[in-house]
Amino acid sequence: MRHLLSTADLDRDTAVHILDTAAQMAATQSREIKKLPTLRGRTVVNLFFEDSTRTRISFETAAKRLSADVINFSAKGSSVSKGESLKDTALTLQAMGADAVVIRHQSSGAPHTLAHAGWVDGAVINAGDGTHQHPTQALLDAYTIRRHLAGGSVSADVTGRDLAGLKVAIVGDVLHSRVARSNVLLLRTLGADVTLVAPPTLVPVGVEAWPCRVSYHLDEVIRDQQPDAIMMLRVQRERMSANGAGGGAFFPNPLEYTRGFGLDARRLALLPDHTIVMHPGPMNRGLEISADAADSARAVIVEQVANGVAVRMAVLYLLMSGDPAGASQVQSQSLSNQRVGIA
Ligand code: NCD
Repeated sequence: MRHLLSTADLDRDTAVHILDTAAQMAATQSREIKKLPTLRGRTVVNLFFEDSTRTRISFETAAKRLSADVINFSAKGSSVSKGESLKDTALTLQAMGADAVVIRHQSSGAPHTLAHAGWVDGAVINAGDGTHQHPTQALLDAYTIRRHLAGGSVSADVTGRDLAGLKVAIVGDVLHSRVARSNVLLLRTLGADVTLVAPPTLVPVGVEAWPCRVSYHLDEVIRDQQPDAIMMLRVQRERMSANGAGGGAFFPNPLEYTRGFGLDARRLALLPDHTIVMHPGPMNRGLEISADAADSARAVIVEQVANGVAVRMAVLYLLMSGDPAGASQVQSQSLSNQRVGIA
């Protein structure tokens, strides 16, 4: 694997290997000194054309924990706001010697262009492109689900395991969600049974071809399927009208949306005790998720953020530390040997 552009490119074994590597990375993060020397002397550029809090900080933290140098580049305040093209921006980064480029872009396909146009030599990692893909989010979600549900308890060793037999409901604004698209593919590859739940206006055209079920009724899905994990999606108001002002005619009004598709204390009580509540953030509290649900003991939303660092460490490490066979050797050496592992 040279780039990480889409969860469609991951087969089961590769995905499980990334999750296993992330678990090893996570184990190093409970040490007092969290920094590993693995990517010393390498440069990671964070190229963000769209707003982000957690994903950008998470990639930056992950790269720094692996001792890489990090350059943060955001479109606001750069020559992009003067109209510089993606190509010229990429050529500049290449001239600065970027070994990996983490890109978030409002256009679906921009990371693919960057990876395949020959403008940069380094690995390209998609940190969210338009409504298309957000593969590291899906990986951190799969990691979180596996940790809680795959082995029967959070302390069980889940190394090598996939998500076979688990039921996941993904609820809300599927139409605008790269998180949903990435998760449907990855969770299915890992053996989970996925159901999308949304009002008909927020279900994408062509969804029949996706490897999942679709329902327009959240209460029915909760009653009939009793999902093991319920993932609430943000209502992406900024993508709902041409001028970004939000609103649009995708649902009658916020109250109606919440009644039909919001997770609240009543619905939470109808879910099995072991069901985990997920949200990629940022949350619209009171719209797709109530404060009771977001702050309940079954919510793993803050943990998803923490797991994001371990997962992104694993991805950077696997893409940047040479050939895959050599990489796993370096990995077991640098991660298991305390003396080498701590920088
Ligand atoms: C998501 C994104 O940007 O696609 N957030 C994230 O990366 N944590 C989901 C969203 O914005 O709703």
